Amino acid sequence: PDDDRLAALERARLVPVVVLDDAADAGPLADALVAGGLPVAEVTFRTPAAADAIRAMADRGDLLLGAGTVLTPAQVDQAVAAGAGYVVSPGLSRAVVERCAERGVLALPGAVTATEVQAALELGLTAVKFFPAGTSGGARAIAALAAPFAGVRFVPTGGIGPADLADYLGTDAVVAVGGSWMVPRDRIRSGDFETVRRLTAEAVAMVRPDPG
Ligand code: 3PG
Repeated sequence: PDDDRLAALERARLVPVVVLDDAADAGPLADALVAGGLPVAEVTFRTPAAADAIRAMADRGDLLLGAGTVLTPAQVDQAVAAGAGYVVSPGLSRAVVERCAERGVLALPGAVTATEVQAALELGLTAVKFFPAGTSGGARAIAALAAPFAGVRFVPTGGIGPADLADYLGTDAVVAVGGSWMVPRDRIRSGDFETVRRLTAEAVAMVRPDPG
């Protein structure tokens, strides 16, 4: 199942990282992402609306849902109960990773150094979030880390925008790129889901150019 989730992320190539102030925005946000061609969302536990938003989006059945900014095993439980298929943390927490394994969800903890990648391997993982990507050396750092850690995959997130996509996605070890630029918090808050749809469609066009 972990491999299936990773494969699904790899097909998407992009992961919108969302901060929702109001769970009522989850429906229109999901509509905008689907209309933009990217039925994926990482909903962060940075707001109290996270669990309800994940539940609302997961219940639709047409999105790949992850929980982001998961810092505690209790939040893993909330995320799984709400329907999240994978769990992302900014850093590496053994307690969070172990709870993910118990609950059968893919864990994507943050790791940006060789020591952190080794710790993730020791916990049985083969994929990590590379966060914060921009200030941790970007695509070149991922390529350098991938040399000794053959088979380890990375999801760079943090400080990434459209201009960086080719660099990251051109790096072999990169599964998908995460970011909030497609889903600006202020646009969601003001109900401007047309802008979310447009930014999403533009990002998708960059990574999956229409073959026709
Ligand atoms: C995250 O939680 O992964 C980041 O906040 C997303 O990073 P960005 O806002 O710089 O895209």
